[in-house]
Amino acid sequence: MTASTFDSRADRERLDALRQTLDRHNYLYYVLDKSELPDADYDALYRELLALEARHPDWVTFDSPSQRVGAAPAAGFQTIRHPQRLYSLDNVFNPAELRAWQERLAKQADIDSQRLRYVAELKIDGLAISLVYENGALRYGATRGDGLEGEDITASLKTIRSIPLRAPVTGMLDAPFELPERFEIRGEAFMPTQSFIRLNEEQRAKGQKEFANPRNAAAGSLRQLDPQIAASRQLDAFFYGVTPLSGETGASTQWERLAWLRAMGFKTSPACAACNSIEAVQDFIAHWEGRRAELSFATDGAVVKVDDLALQDALGYTAKSPRWAVAWKYPPEIRQTRVEAIELSVGRTGVITPVAIMSPVFISGSLVQRASLHNFDELAARDVRVGDVVRLQKAAEIIPEILDVVLGERPDPPPAPVSPPTQCPACQTPVVRREGEIALRCPNRSECPAQLANRLEHWASRAAMNIDGLGPALIEQLLNAELASSPADLYQLTPESLMTLDRMAAKSAQNVYEAIQASRQRPLASVLFGLGIRHVGKETALALAQRFHSVDALMEASIEDLAAVDGVGALVAESVALFFADADNRILIDALRARGVRLAESPSQADAALSDALAGKTLVLTGTLPTLKRAEAETLIRRHGGKLSSSVSKKTDFVLAGESPGSKYDKALALGVAVLDEAAFLSLLASAAPDERGS
Ligand code: IVH
Repeated sequence: MTASTFDSRADRERLDALRQTLDRHNYLYYVLDKSELPDADYDALYRELLALEARHPDWVTFDSPSQRVGAAPAAGFQTIRHPQRLYSLDNVFNPAELRAWQERLAKQADIDSQRLRYVAELKIDGLAISLVYENGALRYGATRGDGLEGEDITASLKTIRSIPLRAPVTGMLDAPFELPERFEIRGEAFMPTQSFIRLNEEQRAKGQKEFANPRNAAAGSLRQLDPQIAASRQLDAFFYGVTPLSGETGASTQWERLAWLRAMGFKTSPACAACNSIEAVQDFIAHWEGRRAELSFATDGAVVKVDDLALQDALGYTAKSPRWAVAWKYPPEIRQTRVEAIELSVGRTGVITPVAIMSPVFISGSLVQRASLHNFDELAARDVRVGDVVRLQKAAEIIPEILDVVLGERPDPPPAPVSPPTQCPACQTPVVRREGEIALRCPNRSECPAQLANRLEHWASRAAMNIDGLGPALIEQLLNAELASSPADLYQLTPESLMTLDRMAAKSAQNVYEAIQASRQRPLASVLFGLGIRHVGKETALALAQRFHSVDALMEASIEDLAAVDGVGALVAESVALFFADADNRILIDALRARGVRLAESPSQADAALSDALAGKTLVLTGTLPTLKRAEAETLIRRHGGKLSSSVSKKTDFVLAGESPGSKYDKALALGVAVLDEAAFLSLLASAAPDERGS
């Protein structure tokens, strides 16, 4: 034997031993949460592994511990067809519905309902994932997508340290468990609450967009083409399902499945229970409902599953969901917190709104600190005072809302009620109340600094003119220095004038200047939205732009013309007419025009083709999409060459389905028409036209 083959064999043995040791410590640390090895020692072993792999590059395998963050950014996501469909779950909302489900099961399976056994788990509020392993090694991981096909997010998933790249990590499997040659596991990737709070703090500090909730943050992190981003976010995953694709697991119940997953080294949720009756399931649900706030992850309910796998198979599936499982939805969370101040905020139209500033609380998936009290009548009716403890919930799971005051906890002596202001808190102008309106307003439209600042912020916002770097702090500086008070003034700024501001370096001045210049060419819809016309949201602005093609045409339109636009009612029509009847607004339009802001677009510009990704395809829209408005989705379909239809038939190529889809969705499933969710739809467009979403 030559020296080098000997070296080589020693290297090989060392490499295998290192991988095993590293995998094991990774498992102890990230799955079991107990570390046996100081970080420095782990790092030393890891460096040794890297050195050996550098010496033998062809020994680097896909599942080596060194390959968690190695992958280069990709150009797009591959689509992966799931080995088995990922179903959704039917919901139950109360004990009666849960019992009715049990009775249906018993009847269908023809057994005594008392004999049914269940596993109750918490429903993790994250992103459903499916992983496929072959011969113990992770092959790929995918998102749920439309349930039939998902996106290949293997590179991002490998950065989640609790996901084993090789299984079983734990050594041998004890009987009755076996290792199938090929298997699929399912679970939920999520961002722990603390990581979410930290990430949002960082985003805020960097002036970048904050995530609405941990679920969006997890999805946004995993659906990054650059795995380094996922690696930098602290994600985790719990697993609840396994299906052998070739071979057996030896598990015959859901409870054993969970045990199998743990034995393999997969992380399972600590909140699960084997239940011998539906009453035991109720106890589990009640137990965790009160303790949701103590969990390190967000949950929106419980999942109840028939324990016996043979019985699961016999019960089977409906078009959308398994008959053997249901989700119990928790009602929105209610939290208590203390009101620290009641701020008066002056909006861009001068409306003065009382806003409660509270000790921060984590509620329904995000940190809440402010809640609008809407108006002073509402404030008086709820009698919220500074120092009060209030009960808080999120309306529609999004908007923080004060339910009521916990009067028993009102400080003694009681704080004075907040009385409506007589003057604008920003400019001291006496407030007015328009006939028939509840709102108090500051009438000082042209000089009130709060109104000016809010109008500028709105103009610069992402959904309007999208001027990068022009945030609230800089706007305040511009107003104080009297460099800009209206959107038109922005277009007179120069790098030199910007540099006269405090803490403004040449480079940032240049960047802001360029961002402002670039915004002159934004689409007409962005301009119309940016003007802040009452009742004209993004979608209405788009409809108006598509119908009129210029601010001038819009200004000349009669109320009847306006009201005839799809999606524009009498209220909006009147508001648009009023806006342009105002002399100040006309002056603003003239100034914008004079400074080169584009106020018109040719019909073809609004409609210009972006790609032929959907050429010859017919699509049907149903349900509410997570980010795209209906009109935006329709425009995208047209601009990518697709045709829209209002009903599903065999000729339909895709159904684009959002939240609470209607009968069109069922029909699509019945006819075998492909169903896309928004993510799948956008990646379809992106694959044909990189980086172009067509605004
Ligand atoms: S079982 C065929 N168990 O909920 C039934 N799902 O509506 C498969 N989810 O996005 C689902 N926690 O990823 C199951 N403990 C749990 C779950 C869970 C979260 C998600 C799942 C899917 C959705 C189903």
